[in-house]
Amino acid sequence: MEIGDWTACPDLVDVYREIRELGLERNLAELEAFGYTIVENALTPEQTGAMRDRIVELSEKRLGRSLDLANETAHQETKYAQYLLFEDPMFKDAVVNPRPLALVRYLLGKRCILSSLGSHVKGPGGPGLLLHSDMGNGFPDPFPPYSQVANVNYAMTDYTEAAGALAMVPGSHRHARQTTDWEKGLDGNARNPHAIAIEVPAGTAVVFHGNTWHGSFPRKVPGLRVNLAAFFCREYIQPQEDRHHVPDGYLRGDEDNVLAGLLGRDLAHGWREEGPRKLYARRHADADRVKSWQS
Ligand SMILES: [Fe+2]
Repeated sequence: MEIGDWTACPDLVDVYREIRELGLERNLAELEAFGYTIVENALTPEQTGAMRDRIVELSEKRLGRSLDLANETAHQETKYAQYLLFEDPMFKDAVVNPRPLALVRYLLGKRCILSSLGSHVKGPGGPGLLLHSDMGNGFPDPFPPYSQVANVNYAMTDYTEAAGALAMVPGSHRHARQTTDWEKGLDGNARNPHAIAIEVPAGTAVVFHGNTWHGSFPRKVPGLRVNLAAFFCREYIQPQEDRHHVPDGYLRGDEDNVLAGLLGRDLAHGWREEGPRKLYARRHADADRVKSWQS
């Protein structure tokens, strides 16, 4: 059917049209039914390689030791490489990537914002990451059925279960609650029987609803498993990263208009003396405002 300019859901019709134009209606059905979907070739091999190498380089600097992507054995843990966006402009592409972002906007509304951008760098050994919902960051049970937060998990290395793939419990967004202790396990006898491994090649994006139970399998082979987690939230939720600071010159006018919105330029809340009306009007701001917003 044709999607009209229906005034009862003005943002949704915009988001839905974009999803149709980008050929994502199947992904949308998967998200609704199972709480996650897979976007193939979300990043090019060149983008994937460049971002992965930059993440490893930054991790080495932060950890103070070298890492071996193919043969690592000493890094027997998962380390979160946080706050990546401003480390290198190349990471912008992962945040404003049209296909994953259209699906995130369906889940979180047209005016959602970036909560954090980081990477989990995992070597062999350690427990992986136990099953959880990302609503664990402050939301009490029962969760609303609609998503409050959502994740775009990019595979920066090939995901297989032995290599430490993302784990997912399909359909678990419908439980609308956090995992209990006996539902969290991913290894050995404690493994939740409903958990599956998301086995996808590097460059794939896995987009999932904030309620969906997920985790990551322990890595059982030498080398590193690297992801890139772009985490988004609804506009009324406190993002994980500090959104009051954007380095001077980081946003480049029109070119970064979408990113400026995701970094909070158009947020309605947070007014001062001028009051809310003026700030709501800023939602229709054009790119010229990017510069003044930064200052
Ligand atoms: Fe998570």
